[in-house]
Amino acid sequence: MKSISAILVSQKSQLPTAIYVLITLSCWCLGGLQFSHAQKDAIKPGEVLGYSQQLVSADGRFQLGFFNLSNPVGNYLGTWYTNDTLNHRLWIANPDTPISVGQGNLTMDGDGLLKILHDGGSPIPLNANKTAPNSIAALENSGNLVVKELNPDGSTKRILWESFDYPTNTLLPGMKLGISYKTGKRWTLTSWLARENPAPGGFSLEWNLTANGMRQLAIRHRGDMYWLSGVGSNSYFANFGSISSDAGIYNFSYVTNENESYFSYSVLDGRISRWILTSGGALMDFLDSPFVSFGLCFSDSSAPGCVQRSSPICRNSSKTFQKRKGYFVSSSPRLDENSSISVYDCWDRCWNDCSCDGFCTLQDIETGCRFFGGEFAEDKASNLEDFFVLTDISEPVEEPRRKKIWWIWIIVGLVPVPAIIIFLWFLRKKLHWDLERNREAATLNELTSSRRSGDTNEISNDAEKRGHDLKVLSFQSIVAATDNFSTENKLGQGGFGPVYKGRLPDGQEIAVKRLSRRSGQGLVEFKNELVLIARLQHTNLVRLLGYCVKEDEKMLIYEYMPNKSLDFFLFDPKKRELLDWKRRCNIIEGIAQGILYLHRYSRLRIIHRDLKAGNILLDADMNPKISDFGLARVFERDEADAKTQRVVGTYGYMSPEYAMQGKFSEKSDVYSFGVLMLEIVSGRKNKGAFDPENTGNLVGYTWELWAKGRGLDLKDSTLSDSDSDNQILRYIHVGLLCVQDYAADRPTMSDVVSMLANETLPLPIPNRAVFSTQRKLSGAISTSDEKGSCSARITISEIDPR
Ligand SMILES: *[C@@H]1O[C@H](CO)[C@@H](O)[C@H](O)[C@H]1NC(C)=O
Repeated sequence: MKSISAILVSQKSQLPTAIYVLITLSCWCLGGLQFSHAQKDAIKPGEVLGYSQQLVSADGRFQLGFFNLSNPVGNYLGTWYTNDTLNHRLWIANPDTPISVGQGNLTMDGDGLLKILHDGGSPIPLNANKTAPNSIAALENSGNLVVKELNPDGSTKRILWESFDYPTNTLLPGMKLGISYKTGKRWTLTSWLARENPAPGGFSLEWNLTANGMRQLAIRHRGDMYWLSGVGSNSYFANFGSISSDAGIYNFSYVTNENESYFSYSVLDGRISRWILTSGGALMDFLDSPFVSFGLCFSDSSAPGCVQRSSPICRNSSKTFQKRKGYFVSSSPRLDENSSISVYDCWDRCWNDCSCDGFCTLQDIETGCRFFGGEFAEDKASNLEDFFVLTDISEPVEEPRRKKIWWIWIIVGLVPVPAIIIFLWFLRKKLHWDLERNREAATLNELTSSRRSGDTNEISNDAEKRGHDLKVLSFQSIVAATDNFSTENKLGQGGFGPVYKGRLPDGQEIAVKRLSRRSGQGLVEFKNELVLIARLQHTNLVRLLGYCVKEDEKMLIYEYMPNKSLDFFLFDPKKRELLDWKRRCNIIEGIAQGILYLHRYSRLRIIHRDLKAGNILLDADMNPKISDFGLARVFERDEADAKTQRVVGTYGYMSPEYAMQGKFSEKSDVYSFGVLMLEIVSGRKNKGAFDPENTGNLVGYTWELWAKGRGLDLKDSTLSDSDSDNQILRYIHVGLLCVQDYAADRPTMSDVVSMLANETLPLPIPNRAVFSTQRKLSGAISTSDEKGSCSARITISEIDPR
């Protein structure tokens, strides 16, 4: 077959075009040109590399194939080391144009054009304008994918195109970094935008030729010089950070002639090596000793190699951004919704803006920025967002202060220390009270003097029309119930504001969700939640008791849940023990009933869209109650699914079609429920694909165990009793059915409820969840340093309950 097609193609010019087309077509249709099972290192014209097939270099070290990334979800063609424990992607053919998960193939047409074919999109060409009819594409032992024109005898005539000319974020041994004077082409690396997002990011690595004739590596951030390597030797550069003892394995070469000028490296013992420019501006081969570490040269850094940039007067070397949990007290963030910027862009901009005191990214996919100003309240205990907060780091390191410190200590030692501490504590507390009281008095004044707000009328009329007896509480009564929103009464921080515990005069305990002031998006959420939840009545949904609207104060009043939320128990090594299997079953069933009610039996048909352990509240008897309807969406009875431009929700619980295409339906809730089930059985959190041991990707991990017949290994170790093992296996099985890639394959909630209730009902065999299992650690190496997002949830603008 091979020789026939080669001959046909090489004689193309002598054949009448029609016959040629006919033959080519028939070759295609035969399908015999699909790859056989034997390993191949090349594609010839007419051949197809399927979605789940790989090219393998002749020596077996490199592979080329399709793989998925998760943030945003997409399918990419690229190369990797066969035995790379970090599973790093070396090169990506379509970093800007991900295709849908679960499909796509690579083929070479009769003209020698290599292209990715996929449903619902035009083919993505790799070697456009660099084609010749008698070509092959081969994955070489260097990891380079090369398209070459062949002579009739099969020898190479010329190289047409090679992937090494189009580097992404990785430099491999033998790759060039520099410039070709003949073509004017520059070989530079470009960082990914975020950990799982290979779209071009802010950093680039180049071979810098200018500075007084010295050649050095240079990292730029958004075009500005960021770091310079200094002079290079045989195996390191002056400004490389910690030099691993392994650094001696390198052999650098510096080449300059009339054709080109470049840097490249080789590895002495031929081991796995790849220099990665990460989305945080780190340059590394090994995880433990980066040449340049994450965010090294931001703020006012004097680290070796950092290029000093001018900072505004309000910033100096004693300040930097540190990652802290909590919230900004009185701030409405300034948003930048540009999805081509990520956390280090936000860092740079906030640094250069004196009114900015902190930031985080806008979306779950770690792009966009939210900038804050003003006071930051740290709160480590609760489950709050992470922010990068401007922090003064000067005190412990400044020299002159240290000299003074010894005699200060003597004085302090003479005075009874405890008395001072107590005094200061009282002083602070008093000041704080006074401040709060003044502020509150002003607010109250303002509120009582103002006319009745239009909002109040509108909403209460709305609710009345629907015939619900929601209480309308006065602002003063809530101030009294929550002890003036005291910190002691604060239960936590929701997506749109803090939640307080309160007690009404009649003794009833309540939870008050106070929406952040001046938050326009919060208002939409508020109305959505109010209108929706006022119409819902089910024992497994949290009950709304009333609300309060006064000008820009908006509050929802719920029944109080003494046992907080499921995640509080489930992911805590000690508290988890309180959840025996019986309780867990009860929780799973309760959640299932609650969702079923939303989907089927409520007067509306509701997709919750943000089901997760943190939104499952537990009452005094540990019965689950679904909460947080801020993102919920009402469906018409005959509406099958809907689409949104702005994907919101919580990473780890989002179904592939929702995360990827913004499509949501009842089945996306089923997916989140499946993840919840697996979490409840295992006591582990589904973190997604970032965990180096691949244990954080719970869905993938469950699959691996299940496929090996070791499903019970998933069981939480605190569930020691083996009586319920059969039931546990059944629950895992149902969980896997719920997290299947294709929405159509997943059961409905009523299927799920009957599967759980009826233990003899045979269960279908789940399809492997490719989307969730293929990925291990991919892309830029993830470390906690680089995790920039504050798992933001943003409002959806098109929520309008119909
Ligand atoms: C988004 O950010 C990128 C990178 O800074 C910039 O090139 C682009 O112009 C921005 N787009 C908009 C719409 O501002």
